Amino acid sequence: MTVERVGIVGAGQMGAGIAEVCARAHVDVLVHEQTRELTSAGRTRILRSLDRGVSSGKITEREREHAAARLRFTSDLADFGDRQLVVEAVLEDEKIKADIFAELDSVVTDPDAVIASNTSSIPIVSLGAATTAPGRVVGLHFFNPVPVLPLVELVTTDLTAPAVADRAERFAGDVLGKQVVRSADRSGFVVNALLVPYLLSAIRMVESGFATKEDVDKATVLGLAHPMGPLALADLVGLDTVKAIADAMYSEFGEPLFLAPPLLLHMVESGHVGKKAGAGFYRYE
Ligand code: CAA
Repeated sequence: MTVERVGIVGAGQMGAGIAEVCARAHVDVLVHEQTRELTSAGRTRILRSLDRGVSSGKITEREREHAAARLRFTSDLADFGDRQLVVEAVLEDEKIKADIFAELDSVVTDPDAVIASNTSSIPIVSLGAATTAPGRVVGLHFFNPVPVLPLVELVTTDLTAPAVADRAERFAGDVLGKQVVRSADRSGFVVNALLVPYLLSAIRMVESGFATKEDVDKATVLGLAHPMGPLALADLVGLDTVKAIADAMYSEFGEPLFLAPPLLLHMVESGHVGKKAGAGFYRYE
Protein backbone atom coordinates (compact mmCIF):
# COMPACT_ATOMS: atom_id res chain seq x y z
CA MET A 1 0.00 0.00 0.00
CA THR A 2 1.47 3.36 -1.03
CA VAL A 3 2.08 5.96 1.63
CA GLU A 4 0.11 9.11 0.82
CA ARG A 5 -0.25 10.73 4.25
CA VAL A 6 2.75 11.35 6.47
CA GLY A 7 3.22 13.05 9.81
CA ILE A 8 6.40 14.76 10.93
CA VAL A 9 6.93 15.45 14.63
CA GLY A 10 9.17 18.51 15.05
CA ALA A 11 9.88 21.33 12.58
CA GLY A 12 13.50 22.03 13.55
CA GLN A 13 16.38 21.69 11.13
CA MET A 14 15.79 17.99 10.38
CA GLY A 15 11.99 17.84 10.74
CA ALA A 16 11.57 20.82 8.40
CA GLY A 17 13.89 19.22 5.84
CA ILE A 18 12.03 15.89 5.96
CA ALA A 19 8.66 17.65 5.69
CA GLU A 20 9.96 19.58 2.68
CA VAL A 21 11.17 16.51 0.75
CA CYS A 22 7.87 14.72 1.48
CA ALA A 23 5.83 17.68 0.23
CA ARG A 24 8.04 17.92 -2.85
CA ALA A 25 7.32 14.22 -3.47
CA HIS A 26 3.55 14.94 -3.70
CA VAL A 27 2.74 13.51 -0.27
CA ASP A 28 0.21 15.06 2.11
CA VAL A 29 2.26 16.28 5.10
CA LEU A 30 1.07 17.14 8.59
CA VAL A 31 3.76 18.68 10.81
CA HIS A 32 3.54 18.78 14.59
CA GLU A 33 5.17 21.58 16.57
CA GLN A 34 4.46 22.55 20.16
CA THR A 35 3.90 26.28 19.99
CA ARG A 36 2.78 28.93 17.52
CA GLU A 37 6.31 30.43 17.53
CA LEU A 38 7.98 27.09 16.73
CA THR A 39 5.39 26.41 14.02
CA SER A 40 6.02 29.76 12.44
CA ALA A 41 9.81 29.25 12.57
CA GLY A 42 9.40 25.77 11.01
CA ARG A 43 7.16 27.06 8.24
CA THR A 44 9.63 29.86 7.45
CA ARG A 45 12.52 27.39 7.38
CA ILE A 46 10.68 25.20 4.85
CA LEU A 47 9.55 28.10 2.66
CA ARG A 48 13.09 29.54 2.59
CA SER A 49 14.50 26.20 1.55
CA LEU A 50 11.85 25.84 -1.18
CA ASP A 51 12.85 29.33 -2.38
CA ARG A 52 16.45 28.18 -2.45
CA GLY A 53 15.38 25.15 -4.49
CA VAL A 54 13.75 27.52 -7.01
CA SER A 55 16.69 29.94 -7.14
CA SER A 56 19.15 27.08 -7.69
CA GLY A 57 16.95 25.64 -10.46
CA LYS A 58 16.10 22.41 -8.62
CA ILE A 59 12.34 23.03 -8.61
CA THR A 60 9.97 25.30 -10.51
CA GLU A 61 7.85 28.07 -9.00
CA ARG A 62 4.80 25.88 -9.60
CA GLU A 63 6.37 22.92 -7.77
CA ARG A 64 7.20 25.21 -4.85
CA GLU A 65 3.57 26.39 -4.67
CA HIS A 66 2.25 22.83 -4.82
CA ALA A 67 4.71 21.63 -2.17
CA ALA A 68 3.78 24.53 0.14
CA ALA A 69 0.08 23.71 -0.33
CA ARG A 70 0.65 20.10 0.78
CA LEU A 71 1.99 21.17 4.17
CA ARG A 72 -0.25 21.60 7.20
CA PHE A 73 0.69 22.19 10.83
CA THR A 74 -0.83 21.14 14.14
CA SER A 75 0.06 21.40 17.81
CA ASP A 76 -1.97 18.28 18.68
CA LEU A 77 -0.53 14.81 18.04
CA ALA A 78 -4.08 13.42 18.21
CA ASP A 79 -4.48 14.79 14.65
CA PHE A 80 -2.06 12.08 13.42
CA GLY A 81 -4.76 9.33 13.54
CA ASP A 82 -4.94 8.86 9.75
CA ARG A 83 -1.18 9.02 9.06
CA GLN A 84 0.36 6.02 7.29
CA LEU A 85 3.95 6.94 8.12
CA VAL A 86 5.23 9.21 10.87
CA VAL A 87 8.78 10.46 11.33
CA GLU A 88 9.67 11.82 14.76
CA ALA A 89 12.46 14.43 14.52
CA VAL A 90 12.68 16.15 17.90
CA LEU A 91 15.68 16.70 20.21
CA GLU A 92 18.07 13.79 20.85
CA ASP A 93 16.48 13.05 24.22
CA GLU A 94 15.35 9.49 24.84
CA LYS A 95 12.65 10.36 27.40
CA ILE A 96 11.05 13.00 25.16
CA LYS A 97 11.13 10.66 22.17
CA ALA A 98 9.75 7.70 24.15
CA ASP A 99 6.81 9.84 25.33
CA ILE A 100 6.06 10.81 21.73
CA PHE A 101 6.23 7.17 20.62
CA ALA A 102 3.82 6.16 23.38
CA GLU A 103 1.37 8.83 22.23
CA LEU A 104 1.73 7.94 18.53
CA ASP A 105 1.13 4.30 19.45
CA SER A 106 -2.31 5.11 20.78
CA VAL A 107 -3.19 7.67 18.10
CA VAL A 108 -2.11 6.16 14.75
CA THR A 109 -4.81 3.67 13.72
CA ASP A 110 -3.32 1.86 10.67
CA PRO A 111 -1.89 -1.43 12.04
CA ASP A 112 0.73 -1.41 9.27
CA ALA A 113 1.70 2.23 9.70
CA VAL A 114 5.41 3.00 9.91
CA ILE A 115 6.34 4.84 13.08
CA ALA A 116 9.86 6.06 12.55
CA SER A 117 12.46 8.08 14.40
CA ASN A 118 15.07 10.27 12.75
CA THR A 119 17.31 9.75 15.78
CA SER A 120 21.03 9.59 15.09
CA SER A 121 21.96 7.51 18.09
CA ILE A 122 19.13 6.46 20.41
CA PRO A 123 18.37 2.72 20.21
CA ILE A 124 15.26 2.14 18.10
CA VAL A 125 14.42 -0.86 20.26
CA SER A 126 13.99 1.50 23.27
CA LEU A 127 11.53 3.64 21.30
CA GLY A 128 9.68 0.50 20.19
CA ALA A 129 9.47 -0.56 23.83
CA ALA A 130 7.51 2.63 24.57
CA THR A 131 4.74 1.32 22.29
CA THR A 132 2.39 -1.67 22.36
CA ALA A 133 3.30 -2.54 18.74
CA PRO A 134 7.10 -2.44 18.30
CA GLY A 135 6.63 -4.17 14.94
CA ARG A 136 5.62 -0.77 13.52
CA VAL A 137 8.79 0.98 14.72
CA VAL A 138 11.91 1.68 12.62
CA GLY A 139 14.64 4.29 12.34
CA LEU A 140 14.58 6.48 9.22
CA HIS A 141 17.68 8.58 9.50
CA PHE A 142 18.06 11.51 7.08
CA PHE A 143 21.10 13.75 6.51
CA ASN A 144 21.44 17.50 6.69
CA PRO A 145 20.62 19.35 4.45
CA VAL A 146 17.80 16.86 3.79
CA PRO A 147 16.78 18.24 0.37
CA VAL A 148 20.37 17.89 -0.85
CA LEU A 149 21.83 14.70 0.66
CA PRO A 150 20.53 11.54 -1.03
CA LEU A 151 20.98 9.03 1.81
CA VAL A 152 18.53 7.54 4.30
CA GLU A 153 19.56 4.89 6.83
CA LEU A 154 16.81 2.37 7.55
CA VAL A 155 17.26 0.89 11.01
CA THR A 156 15.30 -2.18 12.03
CA THR A 157 15.16 -4.02 15.34
CA ASP A 158 14.57 -7.70 16.04
CA LEU A 159 10.93 -6.76 16.58
CA THR A 160 10.31 -4.71 13.42
CA ALA A 161 7.77 -6.41 11.14
CA PRO A 162 9.40 -7.15 7.75
CA ALA A 163 6.38 -5.66 5.94
CA VAL A 164 6.79 -2.40 7.89
CA ALA A 165 10.51 -2.25 7.06
CA ASP A 166 9.74 -2.86 3.38
CA ARG A 167 7.07 -0.16 3.41
CA ALA A 168 9.53 2.31 4.95
CA GLU A 169 12.21 1.37 2.41
CA ARG A 170 9.83 1.77 -0.54
CA PHE A 171 8.71 5.15 0.78
CA ALA A 172 12.24 6.52 1.23
CA GLY A 173 13.46 5.00 -2.04
CA ASP A 174 10.57 5.08 -4.51
CA VAL A 175 8.54 8.03 -3.20
CA LEU A 176 11.25 10.35 -1.85
CA GLY A 177 13.91 9.20 -4.34
CA LYS A 178 16.54 8.66 -1.64
CA GLN A 179 19.17 5.91 -1.61
CA VAL A 180 18.57 3.58 1.31
CA VAL A 181 21.11 1.61 3.33
CA ARG A 182 20.03 -0.75 6.09
CA SER A 183 21.72 -0.73 9.45
CA ALA A 184 21.44 -2.83 12.56
CA ASP A 185 20.17 -1.04 15.66
CA ARG A 186 23.55 0.04 17.06
CA SER A 187 23.99 3.57 18.40
CA GLY A 188 25.22 5.83 15.58
CA PHE A 189 24.19 3.35 12.87
CA VAL A 190 26.61 3.31 9.91
CA VAL A 191 27.29 6.97 9.22
CA ASN A 192 27.61 8.42 12.71
CA ALA A 193 29.70 5.46 13.90
CA LEU A 194 32.24 6.73 11.36
CA LEU A 195 31.52 10.47 11.48
CA VAL A 196 31.37 11.18 15.22
CA PRO A 197 34.88 9.92 16.15
CA TYR A 198 36.18 12.01 13.21
CA LEU A 199 34.38 15.19 14.37
CA LEU A 200 35.52 14.66 17.98
CA SER A 201 39.13 14.11 16.82
CA ALA A 202 39.03 17.38 14.88
CA ILE A 203 37.71 19.20 17.97
CA ARG A 204 40.50 17.64 20.08
CA MET A 205 43.08 18.82 17.51
CA VAL A 206 41.87 22.41 17.84
CA GLU A 207 41.59 22.11 21.62
CA SER A 208 45.20 20.92 21.97
CA GLY A 209 46.58 23.60 19.64
CA PHE A 210 47.70 20.93 17.15
CA ALA A 211 46.24 22.98 14.27
CA THR A 212 43.86 25.90 13.83
CA LYS A 213 40.23 25.25 12.98
CA GLU A 214 40.76 26.90 9.60
CA ASP A 215 43.69 24.62 8.80
CA VAL A 216 41.90 21.46 9.98
CA ASP A 217 38.97 22.31 7.70
CA LYS A 218 41.20 23.36 4.81
CA ALA A 219 43.20 20.12 5.11
CA THR A 220 40.14 17.87 4.81
CA VAL A 221 38.55 19.88 2.01
CA LEU A 222 41.73 20.03 -0.06
CA GLY A 223 43.39 16.80 1.03
CA LEU A 224 40.40 14.50 1.21
CA ALA A 225 38.01 16.26 -1.20
CA HIS A 226 35.32 16.55 1.49
CA PRO A 227 32.69 19.19 0.66
CA MET A 228 33.34 20.88 4.01
CA GLY A 229 35.75 20.45 6.92
CA PRO A 230 34.81 18.74 10.20
CA LEU A 231 34.47 21.94 12.25
CA ALA A 232 32.21 23.59 9.68
CA LEU A 233 30.27 20.33 9.51
CA ALA A 234 29.94 20.13 13.31
CA ASP A 235 28.53 23.67 13.19
CA LEU A 236 26.07 22.61 10.48
CA VAL A 237 24.91 19.53 12.38
CA GLY A 238 24.72 21.55 15.66
CA LEU A 239 27.23 21.12 18.49
CA ASP A 240 24.44 20.20 20.91
CA THR A 241 23.42 17.41 18.54
CA VAL A 242 27.04 16.25 18.10
CA LYS A 243 27.38 16.11 21.90
CA ALA A 244 24.08 14.26 22.33
CA ILE A 245 25.08 11.67 19.72
CA ALA A 246 28.55 11.25 21.25
CA ASP A 247 27.03 10.79 24.72
CA ALA A 248 24.59 8.15 23.46
CA MET A 249 27.38 6.29 21.64
CA TYR A 250 29.67 6.49 24.68
CA SER A 251 26.94 5.12 26.90
CA GLU A 252 26.34 2.22 24.48
CA PHE A 253 29.97 1.29 23.67
CA GLY A 254 32.01 2.80 26.54
CA GLU A 255 34.82 3.60 24.06
CA PRO A 256 36.97 6.74 24.74
CA LEU A 257 36.79 7.67 21.06
CA PHE A 258 33.12 8.63 21.63
CA LEU A 259 33.86 10.78 24.72
CA ALA A 260 32.94 14.44 24.13
CA PRO A 261 36.01 16.68 24.68
CA PRO A 262 35.82 19.62 27.15
CA LEU A 263 35.90 22.22 24.34
CA LEU A 264 32.68 20.76 22.92
CA LEU A 265 31.02 20.71 26.34
CA HIS A 266 31.97 24.34 26.99
CA MET A 267 30.73 25.53 23.60
CA VAL A 268 27.39 23.81 24.18
CA GLU A 269 27.16 25.31 27.69
CA SER A 270 27.84 28.77 26.29
CA GLY A 271 25.09 28.41 23.68
CA HIS A 272 27.54 28.58 20.77
CA VAL A 273 26.02 25.50 19.17
CA GLY A 274 26.74 26.26 15.53
CA LYS A 275 25.05 27.66 12.47
CA LYS A 276 21.49 27.57 13.87
CA ALA A 277 22.64 29.76 16.83
CA GLY A 278 24.66 32.17 14.66
CA ALA A 279 27.92 31.08 16.30
CA GLY A 280 29.93 27.93 16.82
CA PHE A 281 33.46 27.32 15.59
CA TYR A 282 32.58 30.03 13.03
CA ARG A 283 30.21 33.01 13.04
CA TYR A 284 27.08 33.14 10.86
CA GLU A 285 24.84 36.06 9.91
N1 CAA B 1 16.76 22.50 -2.24
C1 CAA B 1 17.29 21.87 -3.30
N2 CAA B 1 18.61 21.93 -3.63
C2 CAA B 1 19.40 22.66 -2.85
C3 CAA B 1 18.92 23.35 -1.73
C4 CAA B 1 17.52 23.23 -1.43
N3 CAA B 1 17.00 23.80 -0.39
N4 CAA B 1 19.95 23.97 -1.15
C5 CAA B 1 21.05 23.70 -1.87
N5 CAA B 1 20.71 22.92 -2.92
C6 CAA B 1 21.61 22.36 -3.92
C7 CAA B 1 22.26 23.44 -4.76
O1 CAA B 1 21.44 23.75 -5.87
C8 CAA B 1 23.54 22.78 -5.20
O2 CAA B 1 23.28 21.90 -6.27
P1 CAA B 1 24.34 21.75 -7.49
O3 CAA B 1 25.61 21.26 -6.84
O4 CAA B 1 23.68 20.73 -8.38
O5 CAA B 1 24.45 23.10 -8.07
C9 CAA B 1 23.91 21.92 -4.00
O6 CAA B 1 22.70 21.72 -3.27
C10 CAA B 1 24.93 22.57 -3.10
O7 CAA B 1 24.41 23.80 -2.63
P2 CAA B 1 25.24 25.15 -2.59
O8 CAA B 1 26.04 25.29 -3.87
O9 CAA B 1 24.32 26.25 -2.25
O10 CAA B 1 26.19 24.98 -1.35
P3 CAA B 1 27.60 24.30 -1.25
O11 CAA B 1 28.15 23.86 -2.54
O12 CAA B 1 28.37 25.23 -0.41
O13 CAA B 1 27.23 22.97 -0.43
C11 CAA B 1 26.47 21.66 1.37
C12 CAA B 1 26.67 23.07 0.85
C13 CAA B 1 25.36 20.97 0.57
C14 CAA B 1 26.05 21.78 2.83
C15 CAA B 1 27.80 20.86 1.19
O14 CAA B 1 28.87 21.57 1.76
C16 CAA B 1 27.74 19.50 1.84
O15 CAA B 1 27.17 18.55 1.29
N6 CAA B 1 28.35 19.37 3.03
C17 CAA B 1 28.40 18.12 3.78
C18 CAA B 1 27.12 17.97 4.54
C19 CAA B 1 27.10 16.69 5.32
O16 CAA B 1 28.05 15.94 5.43
N7 CAA B 1 25.94 16.43 5.90
C20 CAA B 1 25.74 15.27 6.72
C21 CAA B 1 25.83 15.68 8.15
S1 CAA B 1 25.56 14.31 9.23
C22 CAA B 1 23.91 14.31 9.47
O17 CAA B 1 23.17 15.11 9.01
C23 CAA B 1 23.37 13.21 10.27
C24 CAA B 1 23.54 13.23 11.70
O18 CAA B 1 22.92 12.43 12.35
C25 CAA B 1 24.46 14.12 12.41
